Parts: sequence; structure tokens; C-alpha cells
Amino acid sequence: MKVLIATEKPFAPVAVEGIKGVIDGAGYELALLEKYTDKQDLLDAVADADAIIVRSDKITAEVIEAAKNLKIVVRAGAGYDNLDLEACSAKDIIAMNTPGQNSNAVAELALGMMVFMARGGFNGKPGTELRKKNLGIHAYGNVGRYVAAIAKGFGMDVYAFDPFVSSDAIEKDGVIPVGSVEELYSKCQYVSLHIPATAETKGSIGYKLLSGMPANGGLINTARKEVINEEELLKVMEDRADFVYISDIAPDCIDTFNARYEGRFFFTPKKMGAQTAEANINSGLAAVNQIVAFLEKGDETFRVNK
Ligand code: 3PG
Repeated sequence: MKVLIATEKPFAPVAVEGIKGVIDGAGYELALLEKYTDKQDLLDAVADADAIIVRSDKITAEVIEAAKNLKIVVRAGAGYDNLDLEACSAKDIIAMNTPGQNSNAVAELALGMMVFMARGGFNGKPGTELRKKNLGIHAYGNVGRYVAAIAKGFGMDVYAFDPFVSSDAIEKDGVIPVGSVEELYSKCQYVSLHIPATAETKGSIGYKLLSGMPANGGLINTARKEVINEEELLKVMEDRADFVYISDIAPDCIDTFNARYEGRFFFTPKKMGAQTAEANINSGLAAVNQIVAFLEKGDETFRVNK
């Protein structure tokens, strides 16, 4: 069996070593494709792979078509909007993610960026504190829970909206559940986004929600840039000089931000929420262990396609 790690944004070497150890132990072969820039390199690499581990790498119908031996693809991470699930299912290929494994890394980045912005990008001038400010968690999943726990350590008042999580479960963590997304945004000076990118959520965060946020409001997006309606976000930036936007990966309209809103935004140069050695080890090892469990025992836990 050949397991391909195809990562345009590589895992930390220590994670690759760990994955290799599991592959060796199972008597499989490892193939490594890192930092590729040409889609053809990916198409060539998948040709004889039985299993593939990816990060945000796009596994399209074309890639699936080129992967003649493929039985399973695992997205080492949470969001699997980069996998063409229908194309996988059409070829009886199992698609999985590794939920929760990189969540703490993303949460630490979200809080780190909030502090950075509240302190003016560490520019030496007076800033503000997070203590006693309201933080809204939009979607209380794995990352949202870590963000809430860290924010409580900062002394923030934490609210959450998630139609799929019971109020009891939210309250148990000392977080205040709210009944609607509008209520969350209107109550909270800071909102941290943790919704997945789906047909329903893409472009769903726009003027109506953001313009209703309290004074000195800010949106922290460590989810996906696609969930933002960028045209409407720009309108909020224009209307409200107090509003800041912080995102783990720049929006498509970055040129407008650079030209008009200096000091009111921060974007990472490359999506790096999950870019820690720990997250790479956790999600990489989970991915390879899930592959071995499926190939040896037919274990389909964490399957995301039908
Ligand atoms: C995820 O969905 O798990 C995160 O966005 C991490 O993505 P990455 O593996 O590309 O860093």
C-alpha cells in the first residue's frame, strides 16, 4: 500500500517523521509531495497512491480521476471544503477529516491576533485590553470551545451562538448562549468566526450583522474567507472608522484594505492557524492512523462522504 502525503503547505518535519513511523509499522510505503506549485505534480503523484493525506490541498474530480488506485483520502484538519466529496463517492473512495486535532492552534492564533490588534499592532502607542469586553463565538465547535476557554482566562465575557449545540452544553463551559446570530453580533464587541464554508454559509457574514456590532467592534476570522461577503465588509469598513477586521488569510479585496484602511486590519500572509508542530503532529498522526484502521479493519470513523 502506498500512502501519499500531498501538502502544498508542509507539515513540520517532526510530524512527517511520526507519520512515516506509522506507515513503516504497517508495512506500507510513503510518498511525499511538498510545496508543489504545479497541479500536474499533484496529478502525477496521486497516480499510484492507495491513500492520500492532504491539508488545504484541493482534491478535485480531476485529481480523483488521476488517482486510479485510491481508496481513501484524509484531510488532516477540520474543514473539508477542499475535497470534492461527490467525486470521491462516485469512485467509492472514502473521504475523512480529523476533527479537533488542530483546534487549539487555531484558537491560540485567534486570541493572539486579538491582542495584537487591541494593542495597535504592538506600535508602542496606548491600546485597549480584552478584559471585561464581550466576545461572541459564532459556532461552538472544537475551535470555538478552545477560544472560549482562553478568552475566559483573559477575563472576557463570552457568548456563543450555535443552533446545533444545546444551551446546557454551552452554559456548562461558563459561556452564555444566545438565541440568534443577530443577538450575538449586536451584543459583542468582538466576534470570532468558526463556521464551516458550505453552500449555506458562503457570503453569509455581511453588512447586516457587522454594522450592528457595538462601538470599536472587530471581526476575527480564522474560519474561511469565503464565508465573508467582501463587498459588504468593505461597506462596513467605510461606514465605521472604529471597525477592525482580523483574518487568518487575506480577503480577495486586500488591495482596497491596503489603500484605505491602514491600521484597521491584520491578515496573515498564508493561512497559519493550524501551523504549529503540535497541530501538525496531532492531525497528521490521526490521519495516518485513520488510514491504517480503514485499510486493515474497514473502520470508517470520521468519514465525511456518503
Ligand atoms: C482546518 O480546516 O483544519 C484548518 O483551516 C487548517 O488548514 P491547513 O491544514 O491548511 O493549515
